[in-house]
Amino acid sequence: MQLLDGKIAAQSIKDHLKEKIETLVATGRRSPHLAAILVGNDGASETYVASKIRNCSEIGFRSSLIRLDAAATEESLIQAIEQLNSDTTVDGVLVQLPLPKHMNESKIIQLIHPDKDVDGFHPINAGRMLQGLTCFVPATPLGILLLLEHYHIETSGKMVVVIGRSNIVGRPISVLMSQDRPQGNATVTVTHSRSKDLPSICRHADIIIAALGKPLFLKADMIKPGAVVVDVGITRVVDPQKKSGFAIRGDVDFETVAPKCSYISPVPGGVGLMTIAALLHNTMMAYEIHHSNT
Ligand code: GUN
Repeated sequence: MQLLDGKIAAQSIKDHLKEKIETLVATGRRSPHLAAILVGNDGASETYVASKIRNCSEIGFRSSLIRLDAAATEESLIQAIEQLNSDTTVDGVLVQLPLPKHMNESKIIQLIHPDKDVDGFHPINAGRMLQGLTCFVPATPLGILLLLEHYHIETSGKMVVVIGRSNIVGRPISVLMSQDRPQGNATVTVTHSRSKDLPSICRHADIIIAALGKPLFLKADMIKPGAVVVDVGITRVVDPQKKSGFAIRGDVDFETVAPKCSYISPVPGGVGLMTIAALLHNTMMAYEIHHSNT
């Protein structure tokens, strides 16, 4: 069994971006700029946004964090987005999800300019992705593709089972891996909470993408020997042993599943780090779009 090590793969992407930026700055250009909006102070969202900002600074990107109170009006969030849309020094804009209940996520996502939508959640980008056109691919699915690419995992002609059908991960990764593209050309089955006899479906898979958000769901008896397993889960569970009071659990029961796999991604240290690297990749792409338009 070999680890799909997100730390190594993400670092290689970040090193590449850092070099690119050093060259840009040396020729007098400004560096790419990511703006993140965080509404409220959900613990997990705070951690993710802090990590996005920290990673920007590590590679020489500019970043801005716009914070709104949990009780802020939807109108104030709309104003913040519109301001970032029209700011020519900002390349990428993201609104950290989930939003407080009094805000309409789908409406908010549609207000981000599609050329700055580095999360790839806007319906224009989702539609373009479906048709195989140039677009921002959502960061987690893109991170999975980049992880598979880094480890030269063959996907063409393979049986892929995706567990989960979310707009953020399951749906887009199933589309991408079935397309005629690198890390694509697979035969993809999308499974979900209504799927019958999931263990037997999983046992046919050469590659399993577990993205359902249920800690330790995927067990050894659901794995074909030699399968590749990608764990997308990042659920916080209470752990009094940890200083923070919680631990991060993946969707895969790593201890029992790993010995049966050819490759497996760990949690933490797998897809989560790739998601950030993919976001940086998308921000670089947004920057290049803006420079080609001016
Ligand atoms: N919440 C959970 N995942 C994501 C993500 O990829 N982007 C944003 N904006 N919010 C999230």
